[in-house]
Amino acid sequence: MDKKILIIDDEKNMRWAIKNALKKEEYIIYEGENGIEAVEKFQEISPDIVLMDFKMPKMNGLEALCKIKEIDEETPIIMITAHGTMDSAIEAMKLGALDYIAKPFDIEELKVIIKKALRIGELNEEVSYLREELEKNTGKTIIGNSGAMKEILKMIERVAKTNATILILGESGTGKEIIANTIHYNSDRSKKPYIKVNCGAIPENLIESELFGYEKGAFTGAATRKIGKFERAQGGTIFLDEVGELDLSMQVKLLRVLQEKEVERIGGNERIKVDIRVIAATNRDLYKMVEDGTFREDLYYRLNVIPINIPSLRDRREDIPLLINHFLKKYGEEIGRKNISIDEGAKKKLMDYQWRGNIRELENVMERMLILAEGNIITEKNIPFEISMDKEKQGKFILPSEGIVMEDLERDLILQALERTDYNQTNASKLLGMTRHTLLYRMEKHGIKKN
Ligand SMILES: Nc1ncnc2c1ncn2[C@@H]1O[C@H](COP(=O)(O)OP(=O)(O)OP(=O)(O)O)[C@@H](O)[C@H]1O
Ligand SMILES: [Mg+2]
Repeated sequence: MDKKILIIDDEKNMRWAIKNALKKEEYIIYEGENGIEAVEKFQEISPDIVLMDFKMPKMNGLEALCKIKEIDEETPIIMITAHGTMDSAIEAMKLGALDYIAKPFDIEELKVIIKKALRIGELNEEVSYLREELEKNTGKTIIGNSGAMKEILKMIERVAKTNATILILGESGTGKEIIANTIHYNSDRSKKPYIKVNCGAIPENLIESELFGYEKGAFTGAATRKIGKFERAQGGTIFLDEVGELDLSMQVKLLRVLQEKEVERIGGNERIKVDIRVIAATNRDLYKMVEDGTFREDLYYRLNVIPINIPSLRDRREDIPLLINHFLKKYGEEIGRKNISIDEGAKKKLMDYQWRGNIRELENVMERMLILAEGNIITEKNIPFEISMDKEKQGKFILPSEGIVMEDLERDLILQALERTDYNQTNASKLLGMTRHTLLYRMEKHGIKKN
C-alpha cells in the first residue's frame, strides 16, 4: 500500500518544494498549514509519517508534536528546522521527534530521511502487532462447548466488530477478562490501544487522575502533565474491570464521558474528544446495586447495552472435562510433563465439585496436581483434600433453623425415592439405604400405595 505522508508548513512554497521532491515516489501526500491542522489531519488520516515545521501560526510545531505523540506514540515525526535553530531541533527530539532536517535541504537527503523514517514506522508497527499476537496466543483461547458458552462465542463474534458498549457479568473466575480481551482483539480496533483499568484495585483518591489525567500544577505534586487512561485508549478500547466498585462520584464522571465522548484533564480547561469502545465487567449484582442506591441507574443503562452473562462453572459442568484437558496440555507443556493424563475417578471428583472460584480455581488445582503428581497419571489420590471433602458436605443434610417434622420428612423422602425409581421397591430401598423389607414397612406406616 502506498505510504501516507503528512506535510505541515505554513509556507505554501515549502510544501510545494517537498511535494515536488517526492513526486517520483509512490507516496500519498497530505498537507496542513498549522499545528491545529496537523493534529486534526493526523487523527483523520493516520499518516505513516509526519514532516512538520516549527514556527507556524495558531499552534506551533512543538505543541503539535506533543499532541500527536499523545494520540500515537509510534508514528515517526520529522521536524523541519530553519537554519541555525538547533536548540529547537534538540528539544523536539527530546519530546519524541524521530529526526529533523534543516532548511534549505538537499532533495536526496530528504528522501533518505523519509525512507528511514518509514522503515522505523513499519518496525514499530510490526513489534506492536507481534506483541498482540503473542498475547492472543499465550494459551488464552476460550474453551467451552456447553450451550451457554456457544451462545457467548456467537455473541462475541457478532458484537466484536461493532462499537457497542459491552457489560460482562459473571462470578469471580468465570472468564470475564479473557472475553473482554477476545472482543478487543477481534474488533477493528485490535491494532489500537487496549487499556485495562481495574476499578477495584486503584485507591479511591487516585482513580480520577488515573482515568482522566491532569495538567501540570493541577494540584500539589502534579509536577508534570499526566495523560489519563481514557485518553490513552484513544481509537481503541478501554476495559473497565470491576466497574461495580466505583463510588458514586466517579460513576457520575464516567457517565459524562460515555454521554459526551469527551474528557477533561484535572486542572485543565480543554475538552478532549475521545473515540473509545467501552467494555465493562463486574462480579457484583449491578441491578441489585441500582435498587440499593449504590449504583446509578442511568450509568447502568449506559453500560448495559449488550450484556454478556457468563454462567458459573457448576452450571455448565459439561465444560469441565474440556477445561481439564486444556489445562493438562497447557501446564503439561509448561513443566515438561507432556505425557501426563488423568483417570476417570479423578475426573469425576473434579466434575462433582462446586468450583466457587470457577475456572480460575480449576486452573490452579490442575496446575498444582500436575506439579505434585508422582506418576504419569493423575488419580483420586492427587485430588486436593478440600475437593474430595466437598462432595461429602454436599450429601450432608443441614437441619434448618426452624426445625423439621421427622415423620413428614421421612414420608417425603420415601415418595421421592419411589418416584425416581418408577416405584421399583428394590432400587428405591437402595437409594434410601434400607432393606426392601424396612421400606415396605414404612410405606405402610405412611399409607403410601405400592402403585
Ligand atoms: N472459557 C475459558 N477457557 C479457558 N480459560 C479460561 C476460560 N475462562 C477463564 N479462563 C481462565 O481462567 C482464569 C480466570 O479468568 P478471568 O481472569 O478472565 O476471569 P474473571 O471473570 O475476570 O475473574 P475475576 O472476577 O476474578 O477477575 C484465567 O487464567 C483465564 O485464562
Ligand atoms: Mg477479572
